[in-house]
Amino acid sequence: MTTMQAAQEIAAQMQAGSKIYGEGDTEVRALDGVTAEFEKGVFTAIMGPSGSGKSTLLHCVAGLDVLTGGEVFISGIELGSLKDKELTLLRREKVGFVFQAFNLIPTLSARENVLLPLLIAGDDHDEAWFDQVVGILGLGDRLSHRPSELSGGQQQRVAAARALVARPDIIFADEPSGNLDSKSAAELLDFMRRAVKEFGQTIVMVTHDPVAASYADRVVVLEDGKIVDELHDPTTDSVIDRMRQFGA
Ligand SMILES: Nc1ncnc2c1ncn2[C@@H]1O[C@H](COP(=O)(O)OP(=O)(O)OP(=O)(O)O)[C@@H](O)[C@H]1O
Ligand SMILES: [Mg+2]
Repeated sequence: MTTMQAAQEIAAQMQAGSKIYGEGDTEVRALDGVTAEFEKGVFTAIMGPSGSGKSTLLHCVAGLDVLTGGEVFISGIELGSLKDKELTLLRREKVGFVFQAFNLIPTLSARENVLLPLLIAGDDHDEAWFDQVVGILGLGDRLSHRPSELSGGQQQRVAAARALVARPDIIFADEPSGNLDSKSAAELLDFMRRAVKEFGQTIVMVTHDPVAASYADRVVVLEDGKIVDELHDPTTDSVIDRMRQFGA
């Protein structure tokens, strides 16, 4: 019997990506020849020292920022081939974001903010799934509040719920648990992991926290704009051991 490795479907990938900010004396090479694949149904953490290019990588793969060189594909579509409008549409249809500074609409309630992407897409939502997401994120009694009436951590959880309820092809999260107390952080991370395991959600998360990284299936380690290592089935201890090598 011959076995053939099933070609794993790729949700997003970067090919030889480089990103240069500024020019001349002030030039910064934030990404320097990065090739990375994000398989469907996999939870990836991106780690590395401050300034190593983590957020730049995330923003470029998510189509929020444009590479100086190289290519990005989301669901097989090369982003550089798209017009602005097409890129906006692709982001709206296929991508979810959990960013600390990612704006909620101030005039809408938490419930409306969570459901907004589905409303825009004209999709019905699954009320049971909505209830599960907001319940696990502890937002059940905050749904009629506007963002200004919520704490920073609650706003962050609304942004997380918004991404998770829509079940996009891929979710990008930059320090999603960073503003949360440890109990809320554990609940959010646990929920993200369950969304991956039980529903095949694809998640790419930047984090500084070895505990948060241990929820992922793999850790991609960046240093000076390059991928220098990858850990599989990380544990808090294996991540801490790897981070020690930075001497930070
Ligand atoms: N808009 C910009 N203009 C100029 N330089 C930038 C810009 N954005 C990022 N950089 C530089 O690019 C490099 C990578 O930045 P990036 O934000 O990706 O790092 P990071 O790994 O996310 O860091 P942190 O852990 O502190 O969030 C840094 O040297 C940063 O100063
Ligand atoms: Mg960053």
